Amino acid sequence: MEEIVALCKRRGFVFPSSEIYGGLGSTYDYGHYGVLLKNNVKAEWWKAMLQERDDIVALDSAILQHPRVWEASGHLAGFTDPLVQCLGKCKKRWREDHLREAVEAEGGDPNAELRCPECGGELSEPRQFNLMFETHVGPVAEEGSTVYLRPETAQGIFINFKNVLGFARKKPPFGIAQVGKSFRNEITPGNFIFRTREFEQMEMEYFVPPAEAGKWHQHWMAEREHWYIELGIRPDHLRVRAHGEDELSHYSSATSDIEYLFPIGWSELEGIADRGDFDLTQHAKFSGEKLEYFDQQTKERYVPHVIEPAAGADRATLAFLVDSYEVEEVEGRQRTVLRLHPRLAPVKVAVLPLVSKEGMPEKAREIFQDLRRRLPTEFDEGGSIGKRYRRQDEIGTPWGITVDHQTMDDDTVTLRDRDSLEQVRVPIDGLGDELVGRLEAPWRSPKLD
Ligand code: GAP
Repeated sequence: MEEIVALCKRRGFVFPSSEIYGGLGSTYDYGHYGVLLKNNVKAEWWKAMLQERDDIVALDSAILQHPRVWEASGHLAGFTDPLVQCLGKCKKRWREDHLREAVEAEGGDPNAELRCPECGGELSEPRQFNLMFETHVGPVAEEGSTVYLRPETAQGIFINFKNVLGFARKKPPFGIAQVGKSFRNEITPGNFIFRTREFEQMEMEYFVPPAEAGKWHQHWMAEREHWYIELGIRPDHLRVRAHGEDELSHYSSATSDIEYLFPIGWSELEGIADRGDFDLTQHAKFSGEKLEYFDQQTKERYVPHVIEPAAGADRATLAFLVDSYEVEEVEGRQRTVLRLHPRLAPVKVAVLPLVSKEGMPEKAREIFQDLRRRLPTEFDEGGSIGKRYRRQDEIGTPWGITVDHQTMDDDTVTLRDRDSLEQVRVPIDGLGDELVGRLEAPWRSPKLD
């Protein structure tokens, strides 16, 4: 993880936030390549939800919602983690459930008395700590002005169920998808962008006839696991784990996590929950609105059940970074490379003049201007060619175009492949088609070979 964190800072993917003020624990800012990479992750998610299906529609709901939303959803009363504090030297705060899990993972008795992992001190009794960030609307913090930063995007979807049903001409099974920021006052954030207090979620609520919930739960587990594999995650780094009874969220009757083998061990990447009719029923009760579906054909009226694949955009980005990261030796020299799926790579092609004379920069710029209309392209003329290749490898650029002496004679360039390091000579004419063809072709991670 340290190597990934260092690469992210060095190459402008992710920076610690507020660094010039000493940082604000576990908040991060995305730099240029991080923005492009995370945007590509989100774009692939949208593509899988909208473009490749015709049963899902999009939504972008507000972060601030009526406070009654969180009463109805159960978050005000139940979105808590058990907090324990060290009563010894270090006074650190911990999540009791995480401490017990760690004891169990090491073969110990999870129900035994816990001690502070930092200094061995005694721990306080657990106290339920609500994770929602509270703020106020309007100029005065008075009764009735309290609102919450949403801790999940899902509720924005449930409260718009009726609006969407009214225009979308959909009948269950159908879904509403949303990507956006969520906020949780986590007790123990950490492990880089794995667990932060401000993060982006990619959530889809899939409304189904109650009798079909089990079938669609299975469907979405398979679909979502396939999505990660298709985008290059090695299948043996993924597993599905069903939640035990004691782990289930207050709204869920069954949840399975897709876990990824992060450097910190197997951890949740995405949760796929069967939320039953909990949310629609609760919002109907609290708002007085009918949130149900009337089937014109069968004349049946029912509250749909909900299957929810809920992913984290930051956590998925981290998984793609980790899985693609490789350090290898090439001709006696160390090379660090991100073997990202070309569709996720922040830059698809770099155009590099071999030297900054003899008309090569001008020629390279012409090619760059042409290619950038079709693909995210970068022009790079600073430093030795070897250094520039290394830089592009580290940001995961799948293809490099070098303009050299021969280019000036015959209008061909060298096309270098990031993974195989193969270099082929191709005519400038048709270069765009060649690269777009490569981008659209099926891709297999060389790490699988
Ligand atoms: N609506 C259901 C829900 O929010 P969740 O399992 O709490 O379920 C879904 O969150 C996903 O959001 C997680 O699998 C994870 O990828 C991401 N996520 C949750 N908390 C996070 C945090 N503090 N930092 C980064 N990502 C987080």
